[in-house]
Amino acid sequence: MSLIDKIRAKAAANIKKIVLPEGDDDRTLRAAEILVNEKLADPVVLGDPAQINEKAKALGVNVNFAVIDPATSPDTARYADLLFELRKAKGLTKEAADKLALDPMYHGILMVKAGDADGLVSGAVHTTGDMLRPALQIIKTKPGMKLVSSSFLMDCPDKSLGEDGLLVYADCVVVPNPNSEELANIAVAAAETARVLCDIKEPRVAMLSFSTKGSADHELVTKVREAVEIAHAIAPELMLDGEMQFDAAIVPEIGASKAKGSPVAGRANVLIFPDLQAGNIGYKITQRIGKASCFAVLQGLAAPCNDLSRGCSVEDIVNTVAMTAVQCLSI
Ligand SMILES: CC(C)(COP(=O)(O)OP(=O)(O)OC[C@H]1O[C@@H](n2cnc3c(N)ncnc32)[C@H](O)[C@@H]1OP(=O)(O)O)[C@@H](O)C(=O)NCCC(=O)NCCS
Repeated sequence: MSLIDKIRAKAAANIKKIVLPEGDDDRTLRAAEILVNEKLADPVVLGDPAQINEKAKALGVNVNFAVIDPATSPDTARYADLLFELRKAKGLTKEAADKLALDPMYHGILMVKAGDADGLVSGAVHTTGDMLRPALQIIKTKPGMKLVSSSFLMDCPDKSLGEDGLLVYADCVVVPNPNSEELANIAVAAAETARVLCDIKEPRVAMLSFSTKGSADHELVTKVREAVEIAHAIAPELMLDGEMQFDAAIVPEIGASKAKGSPVAGRANVLIFPDLQAGNIGYKITQRIGKASCFAVLQGLAAPCNDLSRGCSVEDIVNTVAMTAVQCLSI
């Protein structure tokens, strides 16, 4: 069974209520119908019911899912109060909170914050920043996590890599230039994502660099070395090592020669990139040249909210909802 089939099966066994704020998007409506038909989740689509029904009719979509209109929902006033309480110290006025609670993105995030939904998936229309900012401001990090970041689950055709072909890459979406403490937090969160979503019982985390165990000296390498020390201090049980080059991390012979005695080198299944440029470029190379299937999730939020690419397909939305539902199980 592929990674995503396993994730879908887990979601189906634990139905979660997931908000889809982008009811004006055709792919979102199609995905919601599939989620209900395939019993993968209980989707709640936000938008004007008349417009959604009209669009669904034109698309041939059966509106077999819940639709909530922030403009008429009896809960909007409660969400506005909640938002005001959460953000007034940051200068948000009651008038602004009332207005924001009508915005489907904020409304959806507030549903999750209030416990009226388990998670949220958005980004078919909105940018990453549009989706992330309210999630960061309202949902915030889960206890013990200092930072929200992302992991990419890479399902590679070469099953000798990582964990039976699975590699977890972080961070590829959120934190542009992490300092050593942030990098350590990303590593710990990615190991948790590997356990929760990939069923990897023993995450082996490699902290990547252009240097392996002192082969080069530079402030960029020092950052990664410091991150290794901090990660060991915050998660002493975690099998984590570095700094090391990509080949030393995943090729057993190179790991054995460049990082002798390392418990991780040559057999890493979680790869932590030193910054967002490296992570983002790295996952795209693995996807495009390595022909890996890739699935993105946010990690570290107090309740799961996930971002889509604006070029996403209906299947991408269904898969992301399934991953969000599985993340709900570890909250
Ligand atoms: C994530 C991101 C949107 C944050 O935007 P920002 O303009 O830095 O947001 P702010 O600094 O105003 O922070 C907003 C709030 O989120 C918090 N925050 C920001 N980044 C955070 C993180 N990674 N984890 C946890 N909280 C975070 C801030 O502390 C702040 O909280 P507060 O308002 O309660 O004090 C920004 O880092 C970003 O754009 N990252 C790259 C995303 C991107 O474009 N990726 C494309 C790759 S496909």
